[in-house]
Amino acid sequence: MWAALLGFVFFMFDVSARSGSWEPLGQPYFDNSTKRETTAAVGQPAFLHCRVRNLADRSVSWIRKRDLHILTVGVHTYSSDARFAALHADGSDEWTLRISPAQPRDSGAYECQVSTEPKISLSFRLTVVVSKAEILSGPELFVRAGSDINLTCLTKHAPDPPSFIYWYRGDQVVNYAQRGGISVVTEQRTRTSRLLIARALPHDSGNYTCAPSSSESASVIVHVLSGEHPAAMQSSSSNPPRLDYLLTSSFFTIYSLNYDSRHRNWIATRE
Ligand SMILES: *[C@@H]1O[C@H](CO)[C@@H](O)[C@H](O)[C@H]1NC(C)=O
Ligand SMILES: *[C@@H]1O[C@H](CO)[C@@H](O)[C@H](O)[C@H]1NC(C)=O
Ligand SMILES: *[C@@H]1O[C@H](CO)[C@@H](O)[C@H](O)[C@H]1NC(C)=O
Repeated sequence: MWAALLGFVFFMFDVSARSGSWEPLGQPYFDNSTKRETTAAVGQPAFLHCRVRNLADRSVSWIRKRDLHILTVGVHTYSSDARFAALHADGSDEWTLRISPAQPRDSGAYECQVSTEPKISLSFRLTVVVSKAEILSGPELFVRAGSDINLTCLTKHAPDPPSFIYWYRGDQVVNYAQRGGISVVTEQRTRTSRLLIARALPHDSGNYTCAPSSSESASVIVHVLSGEHPAAMQSSSSNPPRLDYLLTSSFFTIYSLNYDSRHRNWIATRE
């Protein structure tokens, strides 16, 4: 009789397990629509977003694949490396791993794991890049006296627009106060910063450096030539001085110049 009852219980278990009827809410599953390839800049925070539906009372962990290190369980950090944190808002489906600040060695595979039996997991890939600025007309630019010096600096691989940009001539920050006709403009969409010096004179020659926050800087040697035009001269900046374009496009952000007395520097900040 007991054997028959036990058999019946096993039979019930088998049926239920197959139909899943013991799980009124259903099993947890991943929302696969979140991005699983992420690029972050070195020194900036990196975020991996894992979305789990029907989690109920299970927990979500983040694992580093390289060494199977458990980084976080629920909202708790298990790693001794305090750069790792799990972000989760009560009631949301999202469990985000934040690595701040990200380092190149953080590049690699990560896994978002749910404590079901058996476990389910979803893998993610993080690439931490060193952002390097680039000046388009570099490394050397020849400009006729009286025309514009027009320098375009790209902050390559920077996942976010730079929060500020220094422009130097030599080791001095470009001094907007001593001379009119200087402007710095940034285009948000392309993360481009442009230094424009109208009606350049020979003494505007020099080594110009674009130093964005969170990117390595880039430099260009500018020669402002009076009179003679060497064969190598590039005449891209031979248009008459023109500053009105600064005001014509909503894509542009005007930087204002402030004297940073603490570091004794001029800094350009976005308005
Ligand atoms: C979502 O990801 C899981 C785990 O990799 C996989 O088993 C499942 O088939 C995926 N679903 C869709 C709709 O891609
Ligand atoms: C400066 O150079 C950029 C790119 O070469 C160009 O798009 C822009 O129109 C130039 N600006 C002026 C004022 O010449
Ligand atoms: C220009 O200035 C930058 C930054 O100070 C420096 O690294 C670079 O060597 C200079 N280039 C030349 C040709 O002097």
